[in-house]
Amino acid sequence: MGVLGAAGALRRSHAAALAALGALLLLLLASRAPAPPPRRPRPLPPRTTPPSPLPPPARRTNTTLPPPPTHPPTHPPSPTPRDPRIILTRDVYVAGHERPHPELCPALGARLQLLVLITSAPSHASARDAVRLTWGHYASRSDVALAFVLGSPPASLRSAIDAEDALYGDLIVGRSIDSYSNLTLKTLSMLEWADTYCPRAPRLLKTDDDMFINIPRLLRFATAPGRVNATRTIWGKVVKKSYPKRTTKSKYYVSPLQFPGKVFPDFATGPAYLVSGDSIRVLLAAAGGERYLRLEDVFVTGVLATRLKIARLHSPEFYNRKVALHPCAVQRGIAIHMVRYHEQFDLWRKLLDGKTKCTS
Ligand SMILES: *[C@@H]1O[C@H](CO)[C@@H](O)[C@H](O)[C@H]1NC(C)=O
Ligand SMILES: *[C@@H]1O[C@H](CO)[C@@H](O)[C@H](O)[C@H]1NC(C)=O
Ligand SMILES: *[C@@H]1O[C@H](CO)[C@@H](O)[C@H](O)[C@H]1NC(C)=O
Repeated sequence: MGVLGAAGALRRSHAAALAALGALLLLLLASRAPAPPPRRPRPLPPRTTPPSPLPPPARRTNTTLPPPPTHPPTHPPSPTPRDPRIILTRDVYVAGHERPHPELCPALGARLQLLVLITSAPSHASARDAVRLTWGHYASRSDVALAFVLGSPPASLRSAIDAEDALYGDLIVGRSIDSYSNLTLKTLSMLEWADTYCPRAPRLLKTDDDMFINIPRLLRFATAPGRVNATRTIWGKVVKKSYPKRTTKSKYYVSPLQFPGKVFPDFATGPAYLVSGDSIRVLLAAAGGERYLRLEDVFVTGVLATRLKIARLHSPEFYNRKVALHPCAVQRGIAIHMVRYHEQFDLWRKLLDGKTKCTS
């Protein structure tokens, strides 16, 4: 964005921030709308080390992924002996969180309908602000928890991250270095956090900081009669018959060592996908033994989910792309991609627009 564009965006965003605050009032009223019937808490497999409530659990010193649970029987490990050039995920993932913030998920998520975790880079402070000023307001609902998940920041950004977290308290910081090629590690850090600190949340939305999420629509989607009790399921924009890029020039290049197959398994695209809570622990447990693949969506919702027989269900409401939208389309959709700072405010106004008559 050029300097002029940035200044324009700032002016617009200032006005928009005021609009957003006004909208918050509406939102708070809306959040008192009759709640769906309470869910029976999902039975949990026995935990060996339950995270204690506040004060925060002791910092993990263990830097390996947990072994696969002995029950139920899991898939066979990768073929042995393995080619020494193959990198397994457990060789590169650094477990644990610098800032776990267990308080972001009260009662381990037992009272939540939805946990929203937003992957973000340390330098994306303004994208996080735009989310907080718009759709992130839904974090004030008692049945929604929301936080940003970052990788370990460079030394140059540590003090800024400290200050931002002191102000908002919503930054979960993992231990793997934050970089583009480590996106998969960030998603695993997210799953590890959800499993450790929020294991009773029935649904996890994985999304990114350049997304607009229609939380009320997503809640209706997640609690619809046909879905509310679903287990082992991922919902999103499902892509079939996608082929690995074998030319090293591609941003998405994948070597045959990272993924030997000819075609990727069906996967839900990374900008936003919804995961049933029971899938989180098994995904995490299976990750360590798989070849490291830096395409996080193919890895988690394709490779792992296929192995674990977790269903991937396509839903057109996950637009997961950039779209110029009419208020009704914003109100009907769940997830819009490639949203810049000022666009968050525009979409937020359209979401709350009560003047345009939409049919559903
Ligand atoms: C770390 O975790 C692994 C897998 O859970 C376990 O085998 C190992 O004993 C643990 N090490 C320590 C020091 O806790
Ligand atoms: C994670 O990022 C760091 C810094 O870019 C890099 O050195 C490391 O190789 C990355 N890890 C993986 C598994 O790609
Ligand atoms: C979902 O499960 C709960 C608890 O078992 C049950 O009371 C409820 O009727 C189920 N809902 C649907 C739509 O099947």
